[in-house]
Amino acid sequence: MVLVGLSLKLHTALHMKYSKINFNNLWKIVISNPNRINSHIHGPKHWSRVERNGLYICQLNDADEDVIRLFAIFHDSMRLNDGRDAEHGVRGAEYAKSLLNKEYELSEEKFELLYYACQYHNKRVVETVKDKTIGTCWDADRLDLRRVGIKPSEKMLYSREAKFIVRENKWGELTKFGNRIVNNESIMEFWKKLIG
Ligand SMILES: [Fe+2]
Ligand SMILES: [Fe+2]
Repeated sequence: MVLVGLSLKLHTALHMKYSKINFNNLWKIVISNPNRINSHIHGPKHWSRVERNGLYICQLNDADEDVIRLFAIFHDSMRLNDGRDAEHGVRGAEYAKSLLNKEYELSEEKFELLYYACQYHNKRVVETVKDKTIGTCWDADRLDLRRVGIKPSEKMLYSREAKFIVRENKWGELTKFGNRIVNNESIMEFWKKLIG
């Protein structure tokens, strides 16, 4: 229950733009799924940080916010364990599909991005990414590799924003964003100052 409370609290704090999707409801549904993994590595706390990271990047590169937030919820939602589980991406994508038009609405075009991002997040390398929303989803996930003691390399990342955080060790920016200290304007100012 504590884990659920924490995840929802962070999730609510992150709801910075208007969306037609009821993310609070969706989080409750997915977290309540009895099959979901209860792990600090791949469980809801990780999903929350993926959402936070993705929201940070998408304010700078204009990737699709709804798709990123849905990716955060679903991408690891069907993992069976913290070890090798090669098909968890496609299971997460199928779970997202099973709730589409029941618990949330998304255009066909955006759902394709969400499905692909979930399906291949653990299989394809960043060089294959042709779409900034998919790239941002994967960056958001990879930026959280630090939870298991791995610093992601720039080569693993798609966006210049994520590469910058890794290169310059600016991890604190993500945390500030999660705490709603950084708003849209100050992020843009931060970026203007640092990379023009
Ligand atoms: Fe995963
Ligand atoms: Fe993940």
